[in-house]
Order: sequence, then structure tokens, then C-alpha cells
Amino acid sequence: MEKEFLVYKSGELVFISDKAEFKLSQLTKDYQGPIFFYNLDFVRLRVQQMQGALKDVRLFYALKANSHPHILSVFKNSSVGIDVVSGGEIQHAIACGFSYQQLVYSGVGKTRKELELAIKNDIHQINVESIPELQRIGQMAKEMGKKANVVFRINPDISIQSHPYIATGLKDNKFGIDFGQLNDVIAAAKQHAGSIAVKGISLHLGSQMLEFSSLKDSLAKLKPLFWQLRKEFPECHRFDFGGGLGIHYEKQDLISENELLKKYADVVFSELASLKKEIPEIEIQSEPGRWLVGHCGVLLSQVQYVKKTPHKEFIILDSGMNHLLRPSLYEAYHCIHALKNTGSLKTYDVVGPICESADFFGKDRELNEVKQDDFVVVRDCGAYAATMSSDYNLQERAQEISTADF
Ligand SMILES: Cc1ncc(COP(=O)(O)O)c(C=O)c1O
Repeated sequence: MEKEFLVYKSGELVFISDKAEFKLSQLTKDYQGPIFFYNLDFVRLRVQQMQGALKDVRLFYALKANSHPHILSVFKNSSVGIDVVSGGEIQHAIACGFSYQQLVYSGVGKTRKELELAIKNDIHQINVESIPELQRIGQMAKEMGKKANVVFRINPDISIQSHPYIATGLKDNKFGIDFGQLNDVIAAAKQHAGSIAVKGISLHLGSQMLEFSSLKDSLAKLKPLFWQLRKEFPECHRFDFGGGLGIHYEKQDLISENELLKKYADVVFSELASLKKEIPEIEIQSEPGRWLVGHCGVLLSQVQYVKKTPHKEFIILDSGMNHLLRPSLYEAYHCIHALKNTGSLKTYDVVGPICESADFFGKDRELNEVKQDDFVVVRDCGAYAATMSSDYNLQERAQEISTADF
């Protein structure tokens, strides 16, 4: 495996996966507007790598990262399930060929209509995030003559080194059941014993984790809770440690990302080894998103104007925060390249057409000199890019295409 996957070859940008090279200039033929392009070979490789490192862990891909049907078909063919967070995501996963028994359903605000869909179809697992939600599920399942499969998502009150907007495991966050409320949860679950099957415990600390001491501490903190639950509900046999494994946005280094994956797996296996030993039927689950698809996508956009002021030089694109919100929302860093290597570098602010000053992809970025109608490529747009886009300013959505379209 190469360290870098997006490189200039013969003066133009090429996307390399282990199998093939894809010239991104192919995307500019008959250009109609911005394009998210996904390299499916890259996704296949990442799935293999993760399944290899997290052996015997059942993976549920977090569909919110990227819902393109071609991407989902890779997961389907690799027997990866799906982590969904809305009725819309449930329906999309089903339409893309997954069964309800391959779905884990998370989210703090599940409505009656959404839960009805999940319970009616015996979904694999509902990750319950509050006591009122548990009561709603218990009541609804009873009325429907069903037994709902639930796990309790516990908020361990442990922080991760990430942007505060993507950290979810602190007591101030809305996510999960407070660590100290387990006894209340057990009491509520017992009231609904006929309509609820307590299958286990889950955790999700947040996203873009590059260091795993918080994960280690959280797993250690949750294990006694798991045993307490199992004592009360003997069918409790699942431990879901969520998603959150990060990727490098600033440098391209797939080799060090694989080392990171191994460290991540070591933390999980060392912390959960005792459960594996004592409970032969234990199911360990994970809900990865970003690590699997983050690097597989790029956003191609066309230069509308190069605007020079006495203070700055702007590249104004036909794509902005409406297509890729991460820089505006999280001050997230995405590498930006000119499609062609002209050999002369210039410093630009790369901005979009939207009427907001927050509408930028990068400030003071050095890239190959561009002129009007040239193309620019934003790297690492496979996760939380197209799925977070909007039609703000009534701009059209970007097209999404993959290697399967060629
Ligand atoms: C409950 C849950 N599981 C899994 C994920 C996936 O996280 P990541 O893409 O960082 O792996 C998320 C993302 O926010 C989530 O909220």
C-alpha cells in the first residue's frame, strides 16, 4: 500500500487505490457543476483492513457519513451492517438491500413513527438514549404485540481530543443515558419486561479520535455496568463500542493510519478480553463511519473568478458551504489542490458563492496557480460532506458519482 493516494502524475491529479489509478480530469468532460467523486476500490480496501484488524467484531457502517448507494453496495457485499439515525436512513438502507436484522438504530430524538417502523420489523438493535425513550419503546412494543431489541447507550462522561461539536461522551452532551442512571434504567426496563429484550450496552464517544486513552477509560468504566445489566437481564450479550476512529486530514499517510487502526483494535481487545473469555456468545459491535469512507471521496469544483484585492487573492468556486459544510461548521481542514500541476505556486483564500463570510474551504492556502474555468479538487470529502450538504441560496446540490459509473 502506498502512503499517498492523491498525487500528481504527468502534471495532473490522479487518485490511486491498490488496484487502479483514476485520472480526475475524466470528471471534467461535459462538466455541469460540482461533483463528489468516490473511489469504491478504496472503500473496499478500507473495509478489508478494518475487518482484518477488528476480527470477530460485527461492523455497522454509520450511514450518516455517506449514503451513496454505490458505497452502501460495498458494505452489503462485505457483510457489514448499517448504523442508522432516522426513519429516512432506515428506509434508505432497506431500499439499498439491507435487512432490518442488519440495522442498529441510534439517535436521541426517535419519533413514534420512526420507532414503529423499527419495532414492527424486528430491527436488530435500538440504541436507547434516555429513560423516556425506553418507556415509549416499551409501551409501543406492548401495543404492537412485539418485543423490541434494545441496548442502552451509556454516556460515560469522558472527553476526547476532538472538536467540541463532534464529542458526544460528556455529561453536558445530549447523547446517551447518564452513567449514574443505570439503576433507574434497569427499573424502567423491568416494568416493560414483556415488550423489551435487553441485549446489551453501547457507547459512542465522538468522532475523529486519533488517540485512544479515552476509549480505554470508557470501556473500563462501562464493563461493570455491563455485568450489572447481565445479572438482571441474562439475554444481555452485546457490547457496542460505537465509531469515532479518525483519519489524517492535513497529511496523506495511509501507513500511519493503519498503525492507528491496530492501536485502536489493541485497546478494544485488551479491554474487552475478559468479557470474551467469560461469555462465549458475546457479540462485540462497532459503528465506524469516517475511517471507512473519509478518504474515498473528492469534491471537484470549477474556478469562476480569481479575484485579486490589495490584500488578498481569492479563488471563487461554484461550490461552497452548501456542498461541504465542515470547514464552516467545525473549522475543519481539507487539503485543496488545483487539478493541474502548473509548477508555479500561489497563496489563495478558496471560497464559495454563498452569501456568508463563513463560506470558505481554506484560507491562505498554497496551491498551483489557477485561472478562470480551471478546476480545483478538495480532498477527503468521502465522509460528512455530501450527506451534510444543503440547497442554501437555492444552489443546486453537487452530483455524486463513483468509479462504478465509468
Ligand atoms: C452513534 C454514532 N455511531 C457512530 C458514528 C460514526 O462515527 P465516525 O464516523 O466518527 O466513525 C456516529 C457519528 O457521529 C454516531 O453518532
